[in-house]
Amino acid sequence: MCPGTRRRRGGLTTLAGVSSKGVWSAAPRDAAALWTLGAALAEKFPPPRVVLLSGPLGVGKTTLAQGWLSGLGVQDRVKSPTFDLVHPHAWPGGMAYHVDLYRLTPAPPPEELDVPVPPKGGVVLVEWGEPWRRYAPCRVEVELSWPSPEGEGRLVVVREVGVEGGWS
Ligand SMILES: Nc1ncnc2c1ncn2[C@@H]1O[C@H](COP(=O)(O)OP(=O)(O)O)[C@@H](O)[C@H]1O
Ligand SMILES: [Mg+2]
Repeated sequence: MCPGTRRRRGGLTTLAGVSSKGVWSAAPRDAAALWTLGAALAEKFPPPRVVLLSGPLGVGKTTLAQGWLSGLGVQDRVKSPTFDLVHPHAWPGGMAYHVDLYRLTPAPPPEELDVPVPPKGGVVLVEWGEPWRRYAPCRVEVELSWPSPEGEGRLVVVREVGVEGGWS
């Protein structure tokens, strides 16, 4: 069974009728709003959790991950893992792993990076995370995009994916 979610409406709009699992969208107007959305998602999708972030360079994947980790209770300064590939962070309930697959083609499996998937009790946040879909039958996919190329605004679509029998 995949882990459950909590009801939380603030800032998230339910997209009706897309699937039996949830799909939500939000349109944060600036980086601070995106960060706050990340923190809200941490509350909505409590651990254990694998979160796969996608979207072009500079769209805000790291910003959202920073908010998510802060929402979990991580106290460290969270930086982009683009160069180190994996940043482990302790939070009050365990470990969180912030991963960036951008420089890895093809992407190695999680165990090669010493990242626990399944996530045990923790959280795994993966920027450029699509290649890890195959390892995570239970996951949250967060897709970020620019509604208009010049604007500050972003579109964030959140999908909860739970393949039957996942993590069982
Ligand atoms: N609405 C917005 N949402 C998120 N980031 C924004 C927004 N407007 C401007 N920004 C800026 O865009 C940049 C996003 O960078 P980052 O989070 O590192 O992206 P990525 O990890 O996707 O490459 C930050 O400098 C942030 O301040
Ligand atoms: Mg990034």
